[in-house]
Amino acid sequence: MDRETLHAEIRRLAASKEAIILAHNYQRPEVQDVADFTGDSLGLSRRAAASSAKIIVFCGVHFMAETAAILAPDKRVILPEQRAGCPMADMVDVEGLLELKAEHPGAVVVTYVNSSAAVKAVSDVCCTSANAVDVLRWVPPDKEIIFTPDRNLGTWAAKKAGREVIVWPGFCPTHELIEVADVLAAKAAHPQAKVVVHPECPPEVVGLADAVESTTGMIRFCREDDATEYLIGTECGLLYRLSKDVPGKRFYPVTGAAVCPNMKMTTLEKVYRSLRDEGPLVTVPADIRTKALQAVQRMVEIGA
Ligand code: 13P
Ligand code: SF4
Repeated sequence: MDRETLHAEIRRLAASKEAIILAHNYQRPEVQDVADFTGDSLGLSRRAAASSAKIIVFCGVHFMAETAAILAPDKRVILPEQRAGCPMADMVDVEGLLELKAEHPGAVVVTYVNSSAAVKAVSDVCCTSANAVDVLRWVPPDKEIIFTPDRNLGTWAAKKAGREVIVWPGFCPTHELIEVADVLAAKAAHPQAKVVVHPECPPEVVGLADAVESTTGMIRFCREDDATEYLIGTECGLLYRLSKDVPGKRFYPVTGAAVCPNMKMTTLEKVYRSLRDEGPLVTVPADIRTKALQAVQRMVEIGA
């Protein structure tokens, strides 16, 4: 089938099966275009929780579909490409986190949504890049905080919130490719442009930025700000959303190397097949789901 036919077939199947298609801002353009809603991790989680659809097709990576399954246990959650994972999420494990908790009894564990359901189940509260600062402010001031798994997000959010955190040494291999030298070269090529980056970037890159935001926050900033050119420091898929949502302004990637292979695994063909076959499904065992729910629910409720 060609692209137009696939798009039309996906929309037809979604309507007849009462399915909602959610796509992360890093997805391929044609996958974003077929979705009912495109957003950042927090926006997509909130949509999943609020949806009345019977089926959620999650065009993103595994932890995102798992989070939807935690929030909406009565729905069938489909991940079109089963192998689409997140290497950062794999950098923290339950045993290691329990050991760290044992070293800091009484500490509140704040876990980035980029983590497994099992890790969320031994955490007190989850966050995304959109509300990490609000979540840290939510923790009572007399409590120690463990932040896992992203050291860059944890360090940045702690500074913004005026809190001390014990950070887990995880990172995003895609955002780690964005280097200070890339920012300086991009600024030299586009001296009028503002630098807008994701907090998963290394601290030295964050230090050079005019704005540090979640992916949807980056779009909002560029729309509301009065500059006309921006250097974008995140996964390159966001440039498509920016070109659509903020017409008339110019966007350049800080580096074209920042491509997340996992985010690109989902194709229009796979979305079609997964909706037709109603699988692969993502499920969370009931005991883990129950334990993870409170942390995830708090995440959905905290922040704008
Ligand atoms: P956002 O929640 O900002 O969309 O980020 C998700 C992600 O995986 C960033 O690498
Ligand atoms: Fe994970 Fe990084 Fe890909 Fe986001 S961009 S899904 S954090 S590997």
